Amino acid sequence: MIVYLNGQYLPENEALISPNDRGFVFGDGVYEVTRVVRGKSFRMDDHMERLRGSLRGLHLHLPPETLAAIPALHEELVARNNLQDSDTTVYLQITRGAAPVRTHFFPSSEVAPTIFMSASLFVPARESLRRGVNAISVPDVRWQRCNLKTVNLLPNVLARQQAREAGADTALMHRDGVYTETPNANIFAVIDGVIRTYPLSNYILQGVTRNALMEFIAARGLPVREFAIGMDELFAASEVFVASTMSEVQAITEVDGKPIGDGRPGPVTRMLLADLHAAMGLA
Ligand SMILES: Cc1ncc(COP(=O)(O)O)c(C=O)c1O
Repeated sequence: MIVYLNGQYLPENEALISPNDRGFVFGDGVYEVTRVVRGKSFRMDDHMERLRGSLRGLHLHLPPETLAAIPALHEELVARNNLQDSDTTVYLQITRGAAPVRTHFFPSSEVAPTIFMSASLFVPARESLRRGVNAISVPDVRWQRCNLKTVNLLPNVLARQQAREAGADTALMHRDGVYTETPNANIFAVIDGVIRTYPLSNYILQGVTRNALMEFIAARGLPVREFAIGMDELFAASEVFVASTMSEVQAITEVDGKPIGDGRPGPVTRMLLADLHAAMGLA
């Protein structure tokens, strides 16, 4: 596998990152995961806008020309891995770089950010998409800047592991009596015929898939409300689904051991998954 590191394309085992890198020492960095289908990035403008927001949130400054080059690097990396005819994901991570001394405060401006990218084949979870998956509810113990896509993912890691140990696929995280998101996706529910999802705020990440779904929902004229799903409302939902680059539009058919709706992926979930595939040119 060929990866990109600080201006160079290298075999993965030759891409060396310093142990002083602040991504390693502090989790001082941001990331993006972008779908590149047959060599073409999906909603790259959305990813770049979110990336700029994450970098701003961390006061991590990148020269404008470096940022401007990132979309083209995605497609170049995919091509260098001979994946230009495949369905792929590109992982991008930018950290505050390798500072010689470990201090919490930022290093001098001479320390250059580290920019790393890798490309992988996307393997669709066909069986899960067809059948739905189960989830457990767990408290959302993340910080109050969940809108920034930082590499500090410990609460997400622990929640997903807790789900796994409970025999579930994922975790619906809740804060103040309402569901926020899963460790790696936005949550939607259909309640009384209205599609509901947590409103954009500092308590959730603005998913690129969420953006796409909101457009499909508007185009279809379906009733929608950006209003959090209460924990006491979940089992009144006819459908619950989650949306992300990796999980696409995934039905959640059971939560905490109880079925949602009839326990199968519902019509809104299936329609939005089809819309997503069509928008990616996969229909
Ligand atoms: C916490 C969280 N919410 C939502 C998402 C969905 O974002 P996207 O649709 O851009 O993949 C992700 C993706 O990784 C995530 O980590």
